[in-house]
Amino acid sequence: ADGPRERMKSAHEIAAKLYYHVLTLTEQGADGRNYVKERGFTREQIERFQIGFAPDRWDSLTTILSKRQYSLDLMVEAGLVGERESKDGYFDRFRNRLMFPIWDGQGRVIAFGGRTISDEKPKYLNSADTPIFHKGQTLYGLHLARPSIRKEGTVILFEGYIDVIAAWGAGFSNAIATLGTALTEEQAKIIRRNAETVTICYDSDQAGINAAFKSANILEQAGCVIKIADMPEGLDPDDYIRTYGANRFKSDVIGASLTFMSFKMRYLRRGKNLANESERMRYIEEVLSEISSLPRAVERDHYLRQIADEFSLSLEALKQEQYQIYRANR
Ligand code: UTP
Ligand code: MN
Ligand code: MN
Ligand code: MN
Ligand code: MN
Repeated sequence: ADGPRERMKSAHEIAAKLYYHVLTLTEQGADGRNYVKERGFTREQIERFQIGFAPDRWDSLTTILSKRQYSLDLMVEAGLVGERESKDGYFDRFRNRLMFPIWDGQGRVIAFGGRTISDEKPKYLNSADTPIFHKGQTLYGLHLARPSIRKEGTVILFEGYIDVIAAWGAGFSNAIATLGTALTEEQAKIIRRNAETVTICYDSDQAGINAAFKSANILEQAGCVIKIADMPEGLDPDDYIRTYGANRFKSDVIGASLTFMSFKMRYLRRGKNLANESERMRYIEEVLSEISSLPRAVERDHYLRQIADEFSLSLEALKQEQYQIYRANR
């Protein structure tokens, strides 16, 4: 007979099939279908990502699992079912939510993210870690994206499931996402095993910019070459694609990706008036400090020249200054 982990996985498969069936074919899925239509998901996106809908009922999945002889205590442990406080029964953990199956590297469903279709909190209800699901070791969409990641040698990393799905609709099959938490070292290692270059395409709010910095550092440690997409302030990738279309996403966001260093420089400029001499000098100091931590001489040279050109400074003076900073920080 199957062990408990295998039972948990097959239960997730049953749940995914139920949610997909409800969304695509049943009366109970009507609100989910409306939501999906408003957000502009296509039939193809729903099918590829097996998007579903958990009905607004307490016992849809629980009843099915129980009929199929699944231990409901095990299903509680798997995160699909809750137990009543009075201990006299069980209930569906996901209700009235759009359901995104989360797969392991082999394409087995091991967890779910459930998005409310109203303004209920939390916006996304995600499976907690279980014996079959470790959030920090899982990347959304990886098994679907792997063939094109390997072929292109590059991967695009997003914040949200919906961004991955929108990117696929815009022609990018090499898209993956973290699961609502900061990128972990384990995830970075998994990414590095699949691709050398990573384009980080996070939301362009302050939280997203901070997260991009953190992820870029972790990915760099893991040996990846980093690019950071150029998203206009206040949008996320799905918003952008919906507003401006796939072509502009390709040329103006992914195509206009910055190196990590250029991203840092842009960040350091923010809020500084570079026409003001002391603010300009402070900016140059900060950039030189970043340049001095670059491992490759050609890269250091490239950015030193850029600064020399922009501020009409002698390259020699900048080099000396940068070397002093390097010596001081060693
Ligand atoms: P966002 O808030 O950016 O959501 O969170 P989104 O992907 O743009 O979704 P829509 O467009 O509002 O529907 C990004 C990711 O953070 C996690 C989810 O994984 C989500 O995809 N998250 C967000 C949570 O886990 N819980 C939340 O309550 C919110
Ligand atoms: Mn484990
Ligand atoms: Mn966000
Ligand atoms: Mn977002
Ligand atoms: Mn969004």
